[in-house]
Amino acid sequence: MDVSLSRTANDLPEGTAVVVPYFSGDRPDVLLGLSRTQHDQLQALLDADARVGRMYETTFLPGTNGESSALVLGAGSRDEVSPLLTARLAATASRYLTGLGFHSLAFVARPPADGDASIAATVEGAIGGAYNTGLLKTRDRTLRSLERVVIVAPNPASGAETAIRRGQIVGEARTAARDLVNLPPNEITPAGLADRARDLAQQCGLEADVLDENALRQQGFGAILGVAQGSMQPPRVIVLRYGDRNAATRIGFVGKGITFDSGGLSLKTAEGMMTMKADMSGAAAVIGGMLAIARLAPEGIAAAGYIAATENMTGGGAMRPGDVLTAYSGETIEVLNTDAEGRLVLADVLAYAVKQGATHLLDLATLTGAARVALGGVAALATGKPSEWVTQVVAAADAGLDRAWPMPLYPEYRKQMDSEIADIKNTSGDRGGGALTAAAFLGDFRGDVPWAHLDIAGLAFSDRPVPYSARGATGFGVGAVVATALSLAGE
Ligand code: BES
Ligand code: MN
Ligand code: ZN
Repeated sequence: MDVSLSRTANDLPEGTAVVVPYFSGDRPDVLLGLSRTQHDQLQALLDADARVGRMYETTFLPGTNGESSALVLGAGSRDEVSPLLTARLAATASRYLTGLGFHSLAFVARPPADGDASIAATVEGAIGGAYNTGLLKTRDRTLRSLERVVIVAPNPASGAETAIRRGQIVGEARTAARDLVNLPPNEITPAGLADRARDLAQQCGLEADVLDENALRQQGFGAILGVAQGSMQPPRVIVLRYGDRNAATRIGFVGKGITFDSGGLSLKTAEGMMTMKADMSGAAAVIGGMLAIARLAPEGIAAAGYIAATENMTGGGAMRPGDVLTAYSGETIEVLNTDAEGRLVLADVLAYAVKQGATHLLDLATLTGAARVALGGVAALATGKPSEWVTQVVAAADAGLDRAWPMPLYPEYRKQMDSEIADIKNTSGDRGGGALTAAAFLGDFRGDVPWAHLDIAGLAFSDRPVPYSARGATGFGVGAVVATALSLAGE
């Protein structure tokens, strides 16, 4: 895909549709990117229909005799402008216009939405809106394709070119992550995920190591093996590495990669497992994020992605409620509910990342229904220790267009996880504070390394389409991973 910057909306390549944001109160004749006829048409529509120009409202004005077609897009009030909203508006326009068959789009960047962050957000949103599900259809396929994006900015900020590049790289990484999540679980098995991660890593010069079942047994990944023992599919740990391992700052990104979560013997309902192919969304965010980090090449830091990939199934060898597992750290875990499997596999990889020398940790996981109950699909639940590191990650995540909100990790939550027969148990047996007792469990495996946790259960997968996004995988977390790495690199 070709992305470029232009100071004017004249001389756009033939067949390009122009996206024009309309802030409430705008007069049509001030809008750059519209022809005289389109100004008049818009004025008539505004006079006739109160919906025209409202936030997210799309008004298509076809081009006649050689002029470009335009999409006027309600952008709300100027004081509400934010990079996240800008990305969503760009995605709405892109989804609408690529759905009509346009392959070339120009986005007019208007103050106050014309700074670097807004320009990056526009490119990222444009790519996201053109996302295709339905890749496996053999009939009735209507695929969107976005070949060109032009950012029209009469007075671009000094970093506009860099912003465009960043938006494209993160946008494409989100697409890769969404594909991994949307693909079916019979293809994205743990080995299938590892193969794809290795291919993607190779394309952008990342180092990839995959630990197979034998390696996991030899090295004592007892918690992952416990979860995997009910499945015909052997587990994998996937490690992706970027940068100089001797750098003083070495961030470890840890992803939950349950390629299908049936609940195990603590079986879910049919409805409860309908979207459980998406239980590897944390892993997809880490893989996508690492791809983007490799392409952006921040200096002075090392970054590694650690993914625990396994199914959670009910085979004859499945772990039982009551079993005790020995984690990679040596700690013993009493399994009381086999559906609390995410924290088990993360325990092993967190401890492994510490052993490998991480100086900072961030894990991403579709860990608990409780995180969805707390914040809905609006923001990821952030917690961890110490709170300064969580604050830094939350700020980076927001800047990366992945909203997160901090929650406390009081000692009481960890106390509820004490086991009578082992070092820790995997459920408190009480639904109260479920996202935080889960996080407190993870905290045992971080050593003394600053660790932040993003529970993305409510954000990874959308049950219905919205104007700016198709149903299914959202790509949530990729931006948080990239922005956290850039923040540590001082960029
Ligand atoms: N993968 C689920 C969490 C989840 C639920 C993600 C819904 C996305 C949508 C996780 O493994 C799980 O089953 N968690 C249990 C934990 C409980 C048994 C302590 C939950 O949240 O109910
Ligand atoms: Mn589960
Ligand atoms: Zn799960």
